[in-house]
Amino acid sequence: MSIKNLKKRIKSKKAKVGVIGLGYVGLPLALSFAKKGFNVIGIDIDKDRIEQLKKRVSYITDVSNAELKSTLNGRNFKATTDASFIKKLDAVIICVPTPLGKNREPDISYIREAVTKVRDNIRKGQIVVLESTTYPGTTREILLPVLQSTGLKEGRDFYLAFSPERIDPGNEVYKTENTPKIIGGISAKSTAVAKVLYDQVIDEVIPVTSASAAEMVKLLENTFRIVNIALVNEITVLCDKLGLDIWEIIDSAKSKPYGYMPFYPGPGCGGHCIPVDPLYLSWKAKEHGFETKFINLASSVNELMPQYTIDKLERILAKQKKTLNKAKILVLGVAYKKDVKDLRESPAIDVIKILQAQNAKISYHDSFFPFLKISGINLKRSPFTKAFLRSQDCVVITAAHSSLDYRFLIDNAKVILDTRGILRKIVNTKSRKLKGKIITL
Ligand SMILES: NC(=O)c1ccc[n+]([C@@H]2O[C@H](COP(=O)([O-])OP(=O)(O)OC[C@H]3O[C@@H](n4cnc5c(N)ncnc54)[C@H](O)[C@@H]3O)[C@@H](O)[C@H]2O)c1
Repeated sequence: MSIKNLKKRIKSKKAKVGVIGLGYVGLPLALSFAKKGFNVIGIDIDKDRIEQLKKRVSYITDVSNAELKSTLNGRNFKATTDASFIKKLDAVIICVPTPLGKNREPDISYIREAVTKVRDNIRKGQIVVLESTTYPGTTREILLPVLQSTGLKEGRDFYLAFSPERIDPGNEVYKTENTPKIIGGISAKSTAVAKVLYDQVIDEVIPVTSASAAEMVKLLENTFRIVNIALVNEITVLCDKLGLDIWEIIDSAKSKPYGYMPFYPGPGCGGHCIPVDPLYLSWKAKEHGFETKFINLASSVNELMPQYTIDKLERILAKQKKTLNKAKILVLGVAYKKDVKDLRESPAIDVIKILQAQNAKISYHDSFFPFLKISGINLKRSPFTKAFLRSQDCVVITAAHSSLDYRFLIDNAKVILDTRGILRKIVNTKSRKLKGKIITL
């Protein structure tokens, strides 16, 4: 198929679009194409996820069952584990995980596996796009040779581009469609086809000069975040020593209409992206004999925050003449951030692990997780009731889900360590009535 025909098929929505990896990134993207009338094939190695999709049951917090039903019923959407469907596609978008390996090095094995499947099923006239976050050079150095090993040539027989996913799970305003999308092709022809493809579903598509530039854009964004989170975490520890309230300081600093952007402290820095992606960049930098000092420093500052949270908790308990090993602690919110059903790199897990090592009587509550079986932790969710809250020596808020009744918590908990600054949005935490009851980081 000529490039002209491929573009025409995409513009007329006759193109078949496939998404490999139907997770937090891939599923919403597949739904966006389905909503616009494309024939969509979703491919995942996880049989359970495919079965759930067939039953229109969502496993992603940002996608409700109702949305899944209304988007997919009556539309042309197929969910399958069978990679041979790649042959039928015009566009193949890869959204597989990019975690860290044992030595905190990039683990691109999922990308390699997915691109091997594309290679085995590639045909002339397809566009392949990688969306997984990765180090600059992956598309050119890893995907291109594998796909060209078929004898097909990029820019002539098939098209290859990188487009970073920028989804922010739990964000009510910015979704796949209204978040501007960066694209960079291996060749100018690939950039042009990728632009036409994403123009169909995304409000604003921004081409850059290469796939590597597009890969770097994403890593700059996430490095910016890890560094700023680390900065505010460090200032938080300092403010504590100076007897200052970091939340008041941030609120005041953000009144400046330019030159400042607020970031907030927390019990650590979690999620699949922020603590992980910048390490892909520092790994690549090392290959070039370059040290990414900011990334390394930011990672180590953020890694101190779970222990800092425990230190603060110990001080609270000391006021009750208690020690950790005799204390009953309720950890509230175990997801890595509010309103997501995602435990990846969650700082709450680190907090629980330290507490367990100190023999504290640990319990947790999180509306998303009835059980917590991870990293040697094996707990059943505790109730969020008056009696249970009253029985705890301290409640530590580690993820502030919006659905929780925080007034009920304030009314019934003995002492609360609020690492997310949620309670100050609800009550005057400095009021005489609440003195000593609500402690922030
Ligand atoms: N979650 C986020 O907030 C977010 C935001 C921006 C970018 N990203 C990036 O997007 C990528 C995907 O992240 P995610 O959060 O959607 O991951 P995820 O774990 O939620 O989903 C990945 C899916 O890929 C499937 N998979 C793995 N190998 C496969 C293969 N060979 N063939 C088919 N399916 C396969 C898994 O079964 C899983 O369902 C990562 O690189 C991540 O860094 C994630």
